Amino acid sequence: MALHQPVLLAEALQELGVRPDGRYLDCTFGRGGHARAILARLGPQGRLYALDRDPEAFAAARELQAAEARFVAAQAPFSALASFARAWGVAGALDGVLMDLGVSSPQLDDPRRGFGFRQDGPLDMRMDPDSGESAAAWIARVGLDELVRVLRDYGEEPHAGRIARAIVRERAHAPIATTGRLAAIVAGAVPGRCRHHPATRTFQAIRIQVNRELEELESGLEQALEVLSPGGRLVVISFHSIEDRIVKRFLRRHAQGEAPPRRLPVTGATTAGRLRIIGGLVRPSAQECQHNPRARSARLRVAERRR
Ligand SMILES: C[S@@+](CC[C@H](N)C(=O)[O-])C[C@H]1O[C@@H](n2cnc3c(N)ncnc32)[C@H](O)[C@@H]1O
Repeated sequence: MALHQPVLLAEALQELGVRPDGRYLDCTFGRGGHARAILARLGPQGRLYALDRDPEAFAAARELQAAEARFVAAQAPFSALASFARAWGVAGALDGVLMDLGVSSPQLDDPRRGFGFRQDGPLDMRMDPDSGESAAAWIARVGLDELVRVLRDYGEEPHAGRIARAIVRERAHAPIATTGRLAAIVAGAVPGRCRHHPATRTFQAIRIQVNRELEELESGLEQALEVLSPGGRLVVISFHSIEDRIVKRFLRRHAQGEAPPRRLPVTGATTAGRLRIIGGLVRPSAQECQHNPRARSARLRVAERRR
């Protein structure tokens, strides 16, 4: 089975504060690196629930489920989180929810999935290939302005205009159906040399768009708050600044709470929100980054649901 090295594993477990009899939800099973470590800390009464929208991740979760009575998994996106928690009878009763965002190594490294540009493959990029539109289909129909917006907003690509125009020009000759062709078009459109492969930001942007990753994250965070028990912990690991900004703003918004109505005789106070932020941003150690280069951009944030 293809492997994924879990990122910020010790830190995530510590922040979740796994109790032997606790109930936890891992929203991003992947290959179960975090999930297995949580299970190892659970006693016979403890339970772990897991989601992943990717069918191969779900197949790995099903294998674990067959061997582990304290574990239940479903193939589903974050936006279905609360409905699964209700079906499992744990809505409002979870002691911890973990989100380890982005893609796994098996997804990135398998050229058939179309996430990477290092090996050629079909331009797909869907975490769930049975749902939504592939990257190739989206690129074939997207308008120039929308393409520029996606490259700029989701890839933070400084050459968004040049790259988008090159894509639109090239797709008029032949459909852009492979990762290799897209990477070559981007490399040809970007001037000079850069530290990363010139297509890195474009691939990130299109992946975020195709999987509706930011909408999923916003929805997942709101639903995670609903399914946590009072005192339960939300732990989120993100891998780029756009995701981290969404997480940070969500935590702040729910930590601050609502301002009281103007007419009330309270000066400058806000009611406490539903979350308490725990600590600051957690980054991987130099040692972890050296051992696992994919950890380099990881950032972990934690909050606790107020009682
Ligand atoms: C970084 S990997 C998780 C790795 C996992 N923690 C491990 O140790 O093996 C992220 C996983 O989350 C899944 N995922 C990402 N966004 C999702 C979403 N909106 N809904 C459900 N699963 C999602 C991906 O399919 C991928 O398998």
